[in-house]
Amino acid sequence: MTTTPPTASAVRGPLVRFRADPFRTGNASALAHDPDGLLICEGGRVTAAGAYAALRDRLPAGIEPVHYPGHLVTAGFVDTHTHYVQKEAVATFGNQLPDWLDHTFTVEQRFADDGHARRVASSFCDELLRNGTTTALAFASVRPGSADALFEEATRRDLRIAAGKVLMDRNAPDGLLDTAQRGYEESLALIERWHGTGRNLYAVTPRFAPTSTPEQLEAAHALHAAHPTTLVHTHVSEHRDEIPWVRSLFPDRDGYLDVYDHYGLLGPRTVLAHGIHLTPAERDRCARTGTAVAHCPSSNLFLGSGLFPLREAKEGDHPLTVGLGTDIGAGTSFALLRTMHDAHKVAKLRGHPLDAVKACYLATRGGAEAMGLGDTIGSLTPGQEADFTVLDPRATPLLADRAARAEDVEDLLFALLVLGDDRAVRATYTAGRLAYDRDAATPFATG
Ligand code: GUN
Ligand code: ZN
Repeated sequence: MTTTPPTASAVRGPLVRFRADPFRTGNASALAHDPDGLLICEGGRVTAAGAYAALRDRLPAGIEPVHYPGHLVTAGFVDTHTHYVQKEAVATFGNQLPDWLDHTFTVEQRFADDGHARRVASSFCDELLRNGTTTALAFASVRPGSADALFEEATRRDLRIAAGKVLMDRNAPDGLLDTAQRGYEESLALIERWHGTGRNLYAVTPRFAPTSTPEQLEAAHALHAAHPTTLVHTHVSEHRDEIPWVRSLFPDRDGYLDVYDHYGLLGPRTVLAHGIHLTPAERDRCARTGTAVAHCPSSNLFLGSGLFPLREAKEGDHPLTVGLGTDIGAGTSFALLRTMHDAHKVAKLRGHPLDAVKACYLATRGGAEAMGLGDTIGSLTPGQEADFTVLDPRATPLLADRAARAEDVEDLLFALLVLGDDRAVRATYTAGRLAYDRDAATPFATG
């Protein structure tokens, strides 16, 4: 096990990358496709990406590319909203969000035990790699030790994780509550311990407006203002019943989003999960402040929360920054491929299809931009960190049959997102290093 990237590595195979946002420029100019591509990585970063024939002479001495013919190499997937402490809550039968919260509060109380936190953090990070996810923005539990466990396990695998301990000082069981002061102090200690160390980032994480007092939201603002490169991560307008609840808890505010706005929690490093029921004016306010929304279609379907208006969000006068989130454990899969498929179905239920190029953008570069990391990850441009995923269009008989008849790369991507899941992830590389190899005897590089 090492966290030191090898000095150089390279992979060869069909390669897709995003030069721009296809919602703005159209698919043809946004997607770069090299049918026989080469990716060269040095010191954990991409140093060259493009056609093999044009770049083969730039291979560092002694570096033989790992060849993935018939596969598809893409930037690693970015999960912009997940709860690692809810891994054991996946697939729990029940009703909508209020019932779900009761259940997950029980599950989250187990994280008082640091050994439990370590075990779940380890298997959570392995699931990310098995699903081709190289970056995730994650909720821990209210316990600071649960955040430590995730950062430690992510560091062992060179994953890029942004996470935070939950801030929650009302409307939850006693065992899950902190106070405004304690939440502030514990978050500050975690920021000092983890933010910017290796690939870790801290996210100030008030759970959602109903579980924080005004004093706690002020403390959240103070943390972010004093450490402006931290992220802010919370939920907004997921279930319709939240909206009158927030109004009754914050009667002086002009709606749900205005609570976060008032406490200085909107901005280009803020990710709001769900946002299904945001009004057009609220979406506009998100766009103007650079606040991103994590679209979580799998969770929204599972909990019956509603259908996020993606087209309105991306194609209005002030388009929003949107990423995709699995929202484990209300979401039912770690696979961003599955999440893209669900996003496609939700878009169709709203009267328009979401094509594969745009879905794939949301799962890679769009997610990176949502997390304020658009210059660092997500598009495999030289200088970016070398996180990438190798997809296998022959992973299952049905996928192989369909992929063999794909008309072009967009059609192949569509087949992969409709029929693919973790089985279609052949390998995952973090910081230029093979971190997961589906077909190896020991698939995880951490052993
Ligand atoms: N809103 C506040 N907390 C949660 C949570 O844990 N899951 C979901 N889906 N929504 C939330
Ligand atoms: Zn969530």
